[in-house]
Amino acid sequence: MSRCRAAILISGSGSNLQAFIDQVAEGRLDLDIAIVLSNHPDAFGLQRAHNASISTVCIQHADYADRESFDRAMAASLDEHKIDLLILAGFMRILSPWFVRHYEGRILNIHPALLPAYPGLNTHQRVLDAGDQWHGSSVHFVTEELDGGPLVMQGRLPVTPGQSAADLAARVQAVEHQIYPKAAALYANGSLVFRSGRAWLDDEELTQAMQLTFS
Ligand code: GRF
Repeated sequence: MSRCRAAILISGSGSNLQAFIDQVAEGRLDLDIAIVLSNHPDAFGLQRAHNASISTVCIQHADYADRESFDRAMAASLDEHKIDLLILAGFMRILSPWFVRHYEGRILNIHPALLPAYPGLNTHQRVLDAGDQWHGSSVHFVTEELDGGPLVMQGRLPVTPGQSAADLAARVQAVEHQIYPKAAALYANGSLVFRSGRAWLDDEELTQAMQLTFS
């Protein structure tokens, strides 16, 4: 099997992208980051990619009339790079059904909550407001349902009473930097696949996410 060629899609800081860059550089993650794509020219993640000599492309959604034409422009660029896996890492655009079908089973996302709890935005504050004892992050395959595709891996951590949303977000991000490359590695080595709308690990259906607990 040839080495998995990944595209990482970002909109902002790219701390998850950095975790991938570091793990690949250290030989702990066996995939190639073929391209980093941003929809914002000033996303700091683009600088991270430049520093690591990774090709980048910026396609600004504001330049396109509608969601699908933006997505088709992204796909035209990604397809030039013969991508096996799309890694959404803080990419803040909803993908069109056309795009999701074009890359069916080849898109992973990370969401900062223990899905199916708290899809959408502002997850950390919502967890604090609800008084939950546990929080975390979820890696899932992307389907047309927003934050609703089959779960792959979750990192859980206990909520510290009295903690601010910003501090909680920082702890969740540290968890993300560990679980996201692990999940991508399983895809890259062929263990993790998407089939019939579900996630499979070594030919067993993943009926629930792999769980890792952090302190
Ligand atoms: C992460 O917390 C991820 O869960 C969410 O967007 C954030 C991206 O952060 N989807 P970064 O740009 O990787 O630092």
